[in-house]
Amino acid sequence: MTMVVWKDEYSVDIQEIDEQHKCLVEFINEMYKALAIKDNREQVEEVLNKLVDYTKVHFAVEECLMRMFEYPDYDAHKAIHDRIVHKVTEYQGQFKAGDDRVGMDLLMFLKDWLFDHINKVDKKYVPHLVKNGVKKRWFKKFW
Ligand SMILES: [Fe+2]
Repeated sequence: MTMVVWKDEYSVDIQEIDEQHKCLVEFINEMYKALAIKDNREQVEEVLNKLVDYTKVHFAVEECLMRMFEYPDYDAHKAIHDRIVHKVTEYQGQFKAGDDRVGMDLLMFLKDWLFDHINKVDKKYVPHLVKNGVKKRWFKKFW
């Protein structure tokens, strides 16, 4: 049972970022599976926490790269990340407070956000990073 499927067209052509985006896809699917099981609050919360934490880690990595390579549109991109983190943290809080329905809301939000953000926002920093020397490929498989 899969909710989202990774396609090559989502690639930003920087392997580190692609592999992290693929992890987000995997966690979204894990969340979907967990939500499909009845009375599964504990597992849903576990996956939800993992998804929120990983989203924050992934954003931190992108922001770090943008800072290191002095990406001129850093502020705008960071502001988008901050809004998303605010939103998912809000969902997380509501779920913890006992509102089970927000699990599905969060899932839909992340699913709709992910590919749109990759295509419309993330792909914009790629030429700048590559021009300034970011490595597009790993020299070995790291995970
Ligand atoms: Fe981003």
